[in-house]
Amino acid sequence: MANLTLRRLRQDSAIRALTREVSIGAEQFIQPIFAVEDIDEPQTIPGLPGTHRDSTDSLLQQVDEDLRNGVTKFLLFGVPAHKHDRSFDPGFTVAQIERLKQAFGDSIWLAADVCLCSSTHHGHCGVLDDSGQHLHNGASVEALAEFALAYADAGADCVAPSDMMDGRVAAIRERLDRRQRERTLIMSYSAKFHSSFYGPFRHAAESAPGGMLTDRASYQIDPARPSDALLSSRRDAAEGADILMVKPGMAYLDVLAKLSAQIELPWAVYQTSGEYAALSLTIRENLMSPQAIVESWIAFARAGASIIISYGARYARGWLA
Ligand code: PBG
Ligand code: ZN
Repeated sequence: MANLTLRRLRQDSAIRALTREVSIGAEQFIQPIFAVEDIDEPQTIPGLPGTHRDSTDSLLQQVDEDLRNGVTKFLLFGVPAHKHDRSFDPGFTVAQIERLKQAFGDSIWLAADVCLCSSTHHGHCGVLDDSGQHLHNGASVEALAEFALAYADAGADCVAPSDMMDGRVAAIRERLDRRQRERTLIMSYSAKFHSSFYGPFRHAAESAPGGMLTDRASYQIDPARPSDALLSSRRDAAEGADILMVKPGMAYLDVLAKLSAQIELPWAVYQTSGEYAALSLTIRENLMSPQAIVESWIAFARAGASIIISYGARYARGWLA
């Protein structure tokens, strides 16, 4: 190896293209979208340039524009105006799924986020028990499975539970199969960490946790405990999840690399609002080029993700060109 010459393979764009080991394409991306009840105009989201809290009407315009830009896959967050703490109503989000599918049919692939945090006063992802200090697992799973079934019936191609309750994937799969919804996919947020990288999202989804329980540490995964992410992902796979996910992305690349090597299901990565905001704000100050975001996406592919959920999905075609 005395004369190992590495620069020969770096010398021009032709040989660099021929020797690349990973590639990413715009078709691998999912664009998050927000439908907010009782607003008339799209609202900006601090930290997320290019993403809006959409009204029922502006959502259709947004998706139409995205389709023209080559974006065909979406993750919908429905944000109802009326909050409840016990008996929940999936009606607002159901109506948005129906409208999107009526307008765009099979030209869009639509995943619906399944959670309760946008539907509750307290902003937690499930049902609080009488003490107000813990989420009641059984009652939460019951409500989540109802939501998932309603979204599937409304036409969602995929349901994506993001709550982190135990047993929700099995409950959802069972409910879907009983209703002959065997083609509806489940993308589980299986390795979702208790992270500070969710800031801008909580504003967008009206889901900041409050009340006596002030954070989500008792249901999301501790950043210092990657074994929990492996156990959680194996468990969700066994319960019937079709796609697994690591979230956030950049701070958890080691977890993505390890888990995707151990579990042979498709892996999605969620580039969260906080990490996307950190990159975009730095780019807006002209301190980095937008290619920094492409570089983060290449890291996701290298670490084993085939699906990238990013607020930059609608720019992917341009930035990758
Ligand atoms: C809540 C939920 C969160 C995200 C998706 N669903 C955040 C949280 O746990 O508070 C994060 C999305 C983002 O930050 O972009 N079920
Ligand atoms: Zn939630």
